[in-house]
Amino acid sequence: MKDINWKELSFAYQKTNYNVRCYFRNGEWGELETSSSEYINIHMAATALHYGQEAFEGMKAFRDKKGNIRLFRWEDNWQRMKNSAEGIMMAEVPKEKFKEAIMKVVKLNEEYVPPHGTGASLYIRPLLIGSGPRVGVKPADEYLFAVFVIPVGPYFKEGFKPVDMQIAKDYDRAAPQGTGRLKVGGNYAASLRAGERAHDEGYAASIFLDAKEKKYIDEAGPANFFGIKDNTYITPKSESILPSITNKSLMQLAEDMGLKVERRPVPVEELETFEEAGACGTAAVISPVGKILDRTSGKEYVISKDGNPGPISTKLFERLQGIQYGDVEDKHGWITIVE
Ligand code: PLP
Ligand code: COI
Repeated sequence: MKDINWKELSFAYQKTNYNVRCYFRNGEWGELETSSSEYINIHMAATALHYGQEAFEGMKAFRDKKGNIRLFRWEDNWQRMKNSAEGIMMAEVPKEKFKEAIMKVVKLNEEYVPPHGTGASLYIRPLLIGSGPRVGVKPADEYLFAVFVIPVGPYFKEGFKPVDMQIAKDYDRAAPQGTGRLKVGGNYAASLRAGERAHDEGYAASIFLDAKEKKYIDEAGPANFFGIKDNTYITPKSESILPSITNKSLMQLAEDMGLKVERRPVPVEELETFEEAGACGTAAVISPVGKILDRTSGKEYVISKDGNPGPISTKLFERLQGIQYGDVEDKHGWITIVE
């Protein structure tokens, strides 16, 4: 095990031992390669660099009490990467290749998987890029699939404590019929200005509204959004948000806990009525929301009145993390042990 202060880890890049790579050339995927270099050699006319042919994933591995390494819902990440590839016309990574790459990169970096009980995990970042040259706007004919890993702590430095967010009506992350439901780099480029302004103004993230009507909540920076009231878990239904695997899991856990679950458009004014709210994602897990400022109107929605996470968010967080770290039974078959 590496000598790392696991409890102090933030969500930041650091070098680990190895990454894995695989090239798609002449219409087929090659063998998986292992590398200890952090760099890739790429053609300057690669479509990833010019026309945004790039997709990525984010998933985590956790260590249980016995020392096993547990992957959370990796098949869902594979499926989403397949959808992203389809959406921006890239070669799709076969499921077996994806699995082989994930398993291999985790095993090669086993000493970076944080010990049980530290609250830290191993973040796995698969990446698929158009590596073949094009000057005309067309899909590439060569692709690179690579995966690296980093040990991480909480995405929002507050951890499981309410953070404040702001609604930005003057920026859109994704167009209604655009690429918002895909995990492609362009969506993140489009979110940077609003996100950085939110940080500069003291907020953890920018909440994007639906780009068409600017009435409904889409998502919360790099995470989905949910609200809770009247024993109901409510989360936005929108064509322009990323289908979050964490959110899907929380909907199931909420149902298991006897809550009603509603996936539907969530108008901004409804924030007034929420007893609890949160942002959820692989990196963020659950980040409870304290208050939300509508930057345009100046109206502030105070959700956590006492500065603490609400009881239902806390229960959901404990169940989800319990399953991930192996302390709560995995009834839904979400975990794969890395052998
Ligand atoms: N929304 C966006 C824009 C994201 O980048 C992420 C992170 O992956 C999520 C939502 C949460 O998705 P997941 O729970 O699958 O990590
Ligand atoms: C994730 O939660 O995995 C994300 O991708 C969020 C962000 C770091 C892009």
